[in-house]
Amino acid sequence: MKKKYSLKKNNQKISVLVKKTKKNTDRSLKVNIKTAKGRKLSSTNWLRRQLNDPYVKLAKEKGYRSRAAFKLLEINEKFNILKFGDSVIDLGCAPGGWLQVAVEKTNANLDQLNKKKGRVIGIDLKPILSVNGAEILVLDFLETNFEEKIGEILNYKVDNVLSDMASNSTGHKKSDHLRIMALCESAAFFAFNILNEGGNFVSKVLAGGAEMELQNILKKKFDKVINFKPKSSRSDSSEKYVVALNFKKD
Ligand SMILES: C[S@@+](CC[C@H](N)C(=O)[O-])C[C@H]1O[C@@H](n2cnc3c(N)ncnc32)[C@H](O)[C@@H]1O
Repeated sequence: MKKKYSLKKNNQKISVLVKKTKKNTDRSLKVNIKTAKGRKLSSTNWLRRQLNDPYVKLAKEKGYRSRAAFKLLEINEKFNILKFGDSVIDLGCAPGGWLQVAVEKTNANLDQLNKKKGRVIGIDLKPILSVNGAEILVLDFLETNFEEKIGEILNYKVDNVLSDMASNSTGHKKSDHLRIMALCESAAFFAFNILNEGGNFVSKVLAGGAEMELQNILKKKFDKVINFKPKSSRSDSSEKYVVALNFKKD
């Protein structure tokens, strides 16, 4: 059976003709791409992965902007970090899956009228469509005066700093690891300055060595520091999340 699919990658619409082959063990049918149309092998692999990924399908069904939303849902389910009335900074928020979850879980859109209202601020290099209940800032987290800018907007401390930031892959594993770890470490130091006592920090890390150094830094500042690989994080990816709970004031 052949079918035409449309997907979005980097805000560009891609149409592909696919052939559904055999029943998969999970919900979906396995899909093979029939048209190459001058695409690079890496793009074809990306398309095949997207079309066969149950979380991509589920994100569409549930109205989430990205499959990444399920990673934060799993993290929250396990560690209960986001509560009604909490304030959250989401670093690297595009296209907005984590923002949607953070808004839901903190009641930032006042969905629950009789419950405390949270505040959610998303930051990314790229502009995104608005998310009801979230404030979105197009900023480079690595800009030298980033903290000053955020300080002026916020005027108070927050309960959760989340970072799913990832720089574009260079294709060189070691360099990618070091670049993400540098982002993650900066996010941790930012969190130390902006978190309320008892606050939490969650950040994407890539396995590859340097993540232990970060864990040791975090252990001095938080009650508990855990590495967590959500089921929705692809098993062939070295990505995992460091979850640091209950920030201690010096
Ligand atoms: C994996 S995506 C985040 C997905 C998001 N959590 C979601 O649920 O939709 C990583 C994001 O980090 C952003 N990013 C990378 N470096 C950044 C920086 N220096 N400042 C701000 N955002 C950055 C990228 O632009 C990208 O949109």
